[in-house]
Amino acid sequence: MTGRAIASGFVLLLLTWVCAGGRWSVPARAADDANQEECIPVRNPLVIERCSPCHQRDDRGCLTRISSQRRTPEGWEAAIKRMVRLNGLSLAPDDARQIVKYLSNHHGLAPEEARPAFYEAEHRVVNENVPDETVRSTCTLCHGLGRIISQRRTGEEWRLLTNLHIGMFPFVSTQGFYRYSPAPGLPDLPETDHQEPVDRAVQYFSKTYPLVTPEWQSWRAGMHSPKLEGRWLVSGYRPGKGRVFGETTITAGQAEDEFKTACSLVYIKDGSTEARTGRAIVYGGYSWRERLEGSAKDDPVRQSLMLSRDWTAMDGRMFWGAYDEFGIDVVLRRIGREPLISGADLPALRSGASSTRLAIYGANLPVDIKASEVDLGAGITVNSLVSATGDKIVVDVGVDSKAPNGLHAISLRNHVRPDAIAVFDKIDYIKISPGTGLARIGGAKYPKDYQQFEAIAYNRGPDGEVETSDDLNLGAVDAQWSIEEFPSGLNDDDKDFVGSIDEHGLFTPAIEGPNPKRRNSRNNSGDVWIVAALRPGGSSKSESVLIARAYLLVTFPLYVRWDPSTLLR
Ligand code: HEC
Ligand code: HEC
Repeated sequence: MTGRAIASGFVLLLLTWVCAGGRWSVPARAADDANQEECIPVRNPLVIERCSPCHQRDDRGCLTRISSQRRTPEGWEAAIKRMVRLNGLSLAPDDARQIVKYLSNHHGLAPEEARPAFYEAEHRVVNENVPDETVRSTCTLCHGLGRIISQRRTGEEWRLLTNLHIGMFPFVSTQGFYRYSPAPGLPDLPETDHQEPVDRAVQYFSKTYPLVTPEWQSWRAGMHSPKLEGRWLVSGYRPGKGRVFGETTITAGQAEDEFKTACSLVYIKDGSTEARTGRAIVYGGYSWRERLEGSAKDDPVRQSLMLSRDWTAMDGRMFWGAYDEFGIDVVLRRIGREPLISGADLPALRSGASSTRLAIYGANLPVDIKASEVDLGAGITVNSLVSATGDKIVVDVGVDSKAPNGLHAISLRNHVRPDAIAVFDKIDYIKISPGTGLARIGGAKYPKDYQQFEAIAYNRGPDGEVETSDDLNLGAVDAQWSIEEFPSGLNDDDKDFVGSIDEHGLFTPAIEGPNPKRRNSRNNSGDVWIVAALRPGGSSKSESVLIARAYLLVTFPLYVRWDPSTLLR
């Protein structure tokens, strides 16, 4: 009781302090000290004109705040959106685009700095590995680490960022920034250590993600606008629909770093096709952002890719959906004069199969190739060549019944695609991907957040032991899907309410809002097991049914995603 009274007294005090413009525990840092920090001068007339009314320009050409940070394009976009929303900046969309581009190019990240957080740009759900315990319990309660490590700042700027949080969301003080109300799991600090968690976090980020780094200096010194016009071979994977092959043609856009695209894709499993056109910008000489339109109902979709140093490959993700939860993992390779092999339609061949059609996809494939020039390694016999075009070669193959379990390359004359096909004797186990899923109820006011699951089959691999690193991924298989209770309380009945899963492993969450049919009219959130069952030998009874489970949390809509007052997504 007393503890709570003291705590709320603290909060009141804090609120008054913040409202009165008080500064919180900012270490006494002399003004000239801050001036001595490094900064990146701004040379662009538009940025100077639009930002310097509030961000003073000094004699080095540096604008306060802006010159002491580096960000990804999404980071600059977020900053500018907040200037518009909260600080009264007004900006024409085209000016905003130019400013984001200038700042991303000149105050951006080097490719090696951007790579570890590129999942942010790809809008990919990942299990983040937060390397520092204080950071985990202080900074990743409301948003991911990815947002933070997509930025570089001076020490002073990391400090100001935490002040911004305290000003905008005063409750962060009690939610982990300060020790008087430690967050769950906060490590016990020795009595003699009076450092607050927020100070530790600032120290950590200042040291690990400083403004000036050798990576950025060397990248910035030699930056180019990449020349990407031409044909690119696409190979992709869409969870739930499988392998996707196709081609993208890139043509010049309105500026040196802007492009137009036209792509056509084929889903190997069901033969369905997709054609889209897009517009892309390449930021910082390597970071591709594109909007695509086409005939599919999901349009528009977006795509974020990272370009390789030698401009021959790009990889990333195409994504769509209210929560960007649908997507295709893609790799693009530049098509030159040489043949390129994407892969085969079948990820795996069973030993003993006597006659199986195998389609090999690629570009510039040799149309005059003979069956004897298609080599799939020991144990796989190419019986005949069925057809050959520049982008697809079909062969009939047989697999020796004694062929050992392992990965085989596809080679066409002297061109090779390593580890393209697995040869296996039986499916030893299945696993659900992802092992932990997240969906959000919706459909009334807010959209649903779907979760696609897949049952992936595995073989024990060359070492003969299951669950070891050489196990062979045989690709997704058609399993039977069901939902079981994940017991997490008395009278747990989530499985009857959270939603449903279809025969392709797509989980559709139930509607949001109170449900009168549930006890206490609670809403349809909950947690359940998703179960996949597979009888590997088809109808054969010789192999027993394989079962796998994944945990699924079905939670509320992410309201802040549609709340105009924040950018928390
Ligand atoms: C009308 C005044 C105004 C204008 C114009 C303005 N800003 Fe700001 N900016 C602010 C204020 C106030 C803050 C401190 C509070 C905050 O971060 O929202 C700030 C802070 C920032 C920060 C630091 C945010 C952080 O997370 O550390 C960045 C970056 C920034 N502005 C970028 C810009 C850019 C780029 C422009 C020009 C396109 C711009 N601002 C124009 C008022 C302005
Ligand atoms: C109480 C929830 C909460 C906690 C805890 C929190 N953040 Fe944030 N953070 C937010 C929200 C909300 C935003 C979006 C602000 C906006 O609307 O621009 C944000 C934005 C950011 C941004 C982007 C800022 C910008 O100007 O674009 C960074 C970087 C960041 N946080 C880092 C941190 C760090 C570092 C910590 C730990 C010291 C932390 N956050 C702890 C809620 C939180």
